[in-house]
Amino acid sequence: MFTAADFIPKTYSSTVENGNFEWSAPSNIALVKYWGKKDNQIPANPSVSFTLNKCKTVTKLAFAKKENQVSFSFDLLFEGKPKEDFKPKIRKFLERIEVYLPFLKDYHFTIDTQNTFPHSSGIASSASGMAALAMNFMSLEKLLNPEITDDYFYQKASFLARLGSGSACRSVKGNVVVWGTQKNIKGSTDLFGVAFPYTIHENFQNYQDTILLVDKGEKQVSSTVGHDLMHHHPYAYSRFVQAHENLDQLTAIFENGNVAEFIKVVESEALTLHAMMMTSMPYYILMKPNTLQIINTIWKFRNETNVPVCFTLDAGANVHVLYPENVKEKVLQFIQDELVGFCQNGQYICDEIGAGAIAL
Ligand code: DP6
Repeated sequence: MFTAADFIPKTYSSTVENGNFEWSAPSNIALVKYWGKKDNQIPANPSVSFTLNKCKTVTKLAFAKKENQVSFSFDLLFEGKPKEDFKPKIRKFLERIEVYLPFLKDYHFTIDTQNTFPHSSGIASSASGMAALAMNFMSLEKLLNPEITDDYFYQKASFLARLGSGSACRSVKGNVVVWGTQKNIKGSTDLFGVAFPYTIHENFQNYQDTILLVDKGEKQVSSTVGHDLMHHHPYAYSRFVQAHENLDQLTAIFENGNVAEFIKVVESEALTLHAMMMTSMPYYILMKPNTLQIINTIWKFRNETNVPVCFTLDAGANVHVLYPENVKEKVLQFIQDELVGFCQNGQYICDEIGAGAIAL
């Protein structure tokens, strides 16, 4: 069993003055949702996600040894331009991970980051962003301590990413990632994401995710506040129990390839997530009228055609349309014909399952 203390390095065997790295990390879409957490970013229930392929953050990290080693020092560039309003979030991240990366105050960092998806798309970039930054820091740790193993490298990268944003820990690896201890999933842990360790039926290989951009505005309630409202929530306990059960169901479904059953679990999870928001105190709604229009149109299309297309939602109004690769043409045609009208400026992003973070 891992503990957080396993990620506190004892000594570093090498020194390094300056250099730079570049990593990309993708976004991910949860099938069983993480909603509710304990202290130190420990999830209240286990979750599982598809790692995406095209929606990514690409982050360059340049580092140079500095004189004053009592405080953090970094510049932040977003799409090549200084971005002051991202800095507090990064500073908070550095504070949370300092004990695990004791070299952080020894260097001045330049963090240069960009997304492959439009910034204003309403797609959360915190998962891919925190994962890409964590990968870069681990590359620096590996220079200081070349003996670390590949397993340790990826586990600790996910562990650090989790401290930045919970769901980010599922963006380090592909293609299906579990985060949170679940008794029937070998190796699962609250501390970092692990690749789903069992068979995945070919029906789920190259699964497609088309993200319909319904509302690109700022969310009225952040995920952090939403997680917090699960404390003292009247349905929290049964929800957490249900997440464990749904993960058991999905484990069997991944093995037997039953897409109809997959759809039931995934859509129920999405609506349960939003039901938790609607039954929080204070209560709130992140879905928009067009979110519901899309859901109803998908249900109608599925009933009429038997094409196994379904939806999931994250903490916002956008809809992720999920479907097997062998119905891609039919579903893209359906999206063009019947769903584009519900998207803001007709915008959507075609993505699919991917392999995780990549060193560039
Ligand atoms: C609804 O990972 O964004 O997308 O840990 O506070 O940064 P923090 O929250 P975050 O929450 C994501 C919630 C979700 C479900 C999921 O991705 O599992």
